[in-house]
Amino acid sequence: MSAVALKPSFSELPARDLADDFGGRIADLVDAALSGDHDHVRRVASLFAQGYSGDDRRAVVGRIQAAMKKKSVSLDQVRSVERLPVDNKTRIPLAEEHPWPTTPLLLEDDQDEILSRFVGEAKYADTLARAGLGSRFNLLLSGPPGTGKTFIAGHIASRLGLPFHVVRLDSVISSLLGDTAKNIRALFDFANHGPGFLFIDEIDAVAKKRDDGRELGEIKRVVNALIQALDTLDERTVVVAATNHAHLLDPAIFRRFPYRIEAPLPDEGMRAALWNLYLYQDQPRPEIEPLAKISDGLSCSDIRELSLSARRTAFIHKREIDICAVASAVLSSEEGRLRLPSSQEFDAKSKRELTARLNARELLTMKQVGLLTGVTRQAATTKVKRQREKV
Ligand SMILES: Nc1ncnc2c1ncn2[C@@H]1O[C@H](COP(=O)(O)OP(=O)(O)OP(=O)(O)O)[C@@H](O)[C@H]1O
Ligand SMILES: [Mg+2]
Repeated sequence: MSAVALKPSFSELPARDLADDFGGRIADLVDAALSGDHDHVRRVASLFAQGYSGDDRRAVVGRIQAAMKKKSVSLDQVRSVERLPVDNKTRIPLAEEHPWPTTPLLLEDDQDEILSRFVGEAKYADTLARAGLGSRFNLLLSGPPGTGKTFIAGHIASRLGLPFHVVRLDSVISSLLGDTAKNIRALFDFANHGPGFLFIDEIDAVAKKRDDGRELGEIKRVVNALIQALDTLDERTVVVAATNHAHLLDPAIFRRFPYRIEAPLPDEGMRAALWNLYLYQDQPRPEIEPLAKISDGLSCSDIRELSLSARRTAFIHKREIDICAVASAVLSSEEGRLRLPSSQEFDAKSKRELTARLNARELLTMKQVGLLTGVTRQAATTKVKRQREKV
């Protein structure tokens, strides 16, 4: 297994700078709040939350995150509901604004390189265009569910300081012939003339290969509208799209996304980083290595859900995180079918059963099994001895 260097990539300002200027940021926040500048409030608050997630001000971060979640709807309404294009028939907006992510993004080196390059160049879109070096700032994210595609898109919007406008495919795809293409045009018009950022999730739903036998006429019309919209994009507009099925995309659409990031299921190094972040909040622990080994096949989102669930139980019952419950849930989960950790405390019998299940996988040393079950190597050996004596 290759060792991967994982970098939490915070928005724009490195955490160190933020920590150095805690007071300055508070002043910024007060200033933005009193001037009624909701965008600025949200931006500074996001940077705060990302920058302080790893230190002793975690309680403050929690409160900021909760406030941003609660308030995001009203901020959206203040900002852009009026301007967002709507479907002709249902009058439902074709896109909605989501809050920027406030937790750090972990990336493999190759993903980080493309993302940094994309953001770095998109920031200078204007200057580059004037110098005749304009590009299409279109980035395609592909990978299975829960591997961070939406999360990466949110981080890009945040790093660019642009509102995270997410296309609502349910309202874009219309039952009326011709209206889907019309909606696509309206959306891109909106992006070109306004905020300059659009995230199209599940783009395969509107960009299927045109040789698909069924509904050929309508698919062709929609794909052509999308191609045209992408071709007439303002050079400063950033389009991020995501798909679980890159192979289903029409090749002409695929070509119009020169920047591409693959988000596969996390490998062992990435899983260790995710357990470290979500279960132990950046406190290095010996249990992380065995957990990473046994969680092959889980997505980033699965690891986050399992970790948060275990932390919730620990918090409510005022006890330590039950690592046995986490390990057992990992073993019982299969790809696409997540089991959450039980909230019951593990008794000696369940621990022995868990030890047997872990040993059967043959992935861990006895010491590592002991770390997950609390059954020491000595106790396990004594038990084996006793069994032998019985035989
Ligand atoms: N690379 C990552 N680093 C840190 N956390 C991550 C990462 N990827 C995913 N997560 C966590 O998992 C959550 C779910 O991921 P996300 O919704 O972005 O996956 P997705 O690929 O868009 O899934 P889907 O295909 O189902 O839409 C994120 O909100 C984040 O908390
Ligand atoms: Mg998604």
